[in-house]
Amino acid sequence: MKTSSRRLLLAGAGASLLPIGSTFAAGLIATPAQTEGPFYPTAFPADMDNDLVQVRGQAAQAMGTVLHLEGRVLDSSGRAVPGALVEIWQCDAQGIYDHPRQPGRERRDSAFQGYGRMLVDAEGHYSFRTLKPVAYPGRTPHIHFKVATAAGSQLTSQFYIAGDPQNEQDFVFRAAARSPQQRERIEMRLQPASGLEPGALATTMDIVVG
Ligand SMILES: [Fe+2]
Repeated sequence: MKTSSRRLLLAGAGASLLPIGSTFAAGLIATPAQTEGPFYPTAFPADMDNDLVQVRGQAAQAMGTVLHLEGRVLDSSGRAVPGALVEIWQCDAQGIYDHPRQPGRERRDSAFQGYGRMLVDAEGHYSFRTLKPVAYPGRTPHIHFKVATAAGSQLTSQFYIAGDPQNEQDFVFRAAARSPQQRERIEMRLQPASGLEPGALATTMDIVVG
């Protein structure tokens, strides 16, 4: 966190003092693009707001550990990207996606929304209430996400849990985390969601679109 804010300050100072095109003007390493994978929804759920743990009209809350995932969508100079649409999707606490290609889909937790989307605010902020991701055969725990900017560019990627021993065996993670700076963009540091929700976790992940 300290490193990112320092880099932001440097990028800001560079932008005001140096001509465009100087090496100082471009400050932030972009979030590495990663595969969409086979489980992007073929049909969106009726409820697709930014609370994936609670499906509208259902009393039950999804199984699993709640994770508050928030951050900002920034450009490489550290400026907010207002108007960006952020989508996330992931499997339920049993490792089951709500998708036709998912074996055992009928056993999925219907109290988990599985997919959510939101527009960032004027400062580029997004936030989701979702689940701490779990592993499923062949993959380390991850949350898929996609960002579409108002200008028409798109980034598809995935977030991981920092320090999960399965990350180093995961071919998608390894291909994306080729430098410490790229790793920082995709590894979520999970902390107790103090004051937000008992028993829940929280993490802040800025998404830097190129
Ligand atoms: Fe996946």
